[in-house]
Amino acid sequence: MILTKTLTPLRGELTVPGDKSISHRAVMFGSISEGLTEITNFLPGADCLSTISCFRKMGIEIEQSANHVLVHGKGLHGLSAPSEILDCGNSGTTTRLISGILSGQTFSTTLTGDASIQKRPMGRIITPLSMMGGQIESLAGNGCAPLKITGTTLHGIHYQSPVASAQVKSCVLLAGLYADAATSVTEPALSRNHTELMLSHFGATVTSEGVTATVLPDPHLIGSSIQVPGDISSAAYFIAAALMVPGSEVLLKNVGVNPTRDGFLKAVFDMGADITLLNQSIQGGEATADLLVRYSPLHGTVVEGAMIPTLIDEIPILAVLAATAEGTTVIRDAQELKVKESNRLDIMTSSLSSMGVSITATDDGMIIDGGKPLQGAVIDSHLDHRIAMSFAIASLVAEGETEITRADCVDISYPEFYGHLASLKE
Ligand code: S3P
Repeated sequence: MILTKTLTPLRGELTVPGDKSISHRAVMFGSISEGLTEITNFLPGADCLSTISCFRKMGIEIEQSANHVLVHGKGLHGLSAPSEILDCGNSGTTTRLISGILSGQTFSTTLTGDASIQKRPMGRIITPLSMMGGQIESLAGNGCAPLKITGTTLHGIHYQSPVASAQVKSCVLLAGLYADAATSVTEPALSRNHTELMLSHFGATVTSEGVTATVLPDPHLIGSSIQVPGDISSAAYFIAAALMVPGSEVLLKNVGVNPTRDGFLKAVFDMGADITLLNQSIQGGEATADLLVRYSPLHGTVVEGAMIPTLIDEIPILAVLAATAEGTTVIRDAQELKVKESNRLDIMTSSLSSMGVSITATDDGMIIDGGKPLQGAVIDSHLDHRIAMSFAIASLVAEGETEITRADCVDISYPEFYGHLASLKE
């Protein structure tokens, strides 16, 4: 995919696709609830389709047509043993959340995924699930997928998680639905809370106090309707684009602005962004707003600590913005970026360097001296959707041509990404 600098402002209105985290959870929780769950504005990206495929293999009828999904749930104990390996594709959310559910079943399963998934750390779920009495094994013995899970009786625990990870927290809470007593998870900083909000919506008893979430076992989950808000992680690319290209004004409709996910907005406000939140509302416990974004000269910022989990997936595009902003941006406490779909710390550092940006990788983040013009370059996505999208946006302000190789991986979370980008350039 070859992209060139845009010579005109970006203008127009866009509805970004449904939130990936919420789409996964709606299919999973619908499957283990009784009766029909209707999901509107579902994200039909490859990751969420992996979740649908796994639950279909466990006997759940799921009708999907574009972004409309009907899940015919069979209740907490209604899943049946799959006759083949469950393939989670590129999706860490599918792998880790489903493992919590599978640990409490009466049957065994094996799950795996693509080359990236087979390198991502699963010890972070194997440890708490084992503490609950779960039987989960890394078949290669390296703490990664493929995983063999033998369903068994689980015990409630209080888990002090060493990482602020919604995937770990959700895995343990979902296993807690099948446990013999209450299960709680305490995190070092609060990660996204979609599981807590949506499980309550389906009828579970979930309480949250600060960085601790607790679930009671054996709830009677009832199918429900879920309207998925637009994904702020997808909106972030067009927020960045409008902020960077002089004269731009873009309206992004119905974006999820849950306070555990809105760190990117906070960071860009701190950098001097002109963004107005319009039509703010709450749908199923999830905050949404339309975002009116106008071109703004930005300056550097510091992003660290408890803010990191609230913008973890947006750090690649934030690094691009920081490269165009005046002054220095420091990102700390973001070592989790090394174990995402790719090593995003290494790849952002080397790829932005190849565009002429002064950037230094640190142990847990990066230091970016922004404000110099970007130069077009050849950038490999490493099959990481967020790398491909970040550099497609960087190309808008880079001199000459930018070539993104293996650019199609945007299908993981945003199949219409390049079309939406082109629509704002017209
Ligand atoms: C997700 C949680 C985050 C995020 C991922 C989606 C989720 O991962 O990076 O894209 O849906 O729970 P971690 O929990 O590993 O931080």
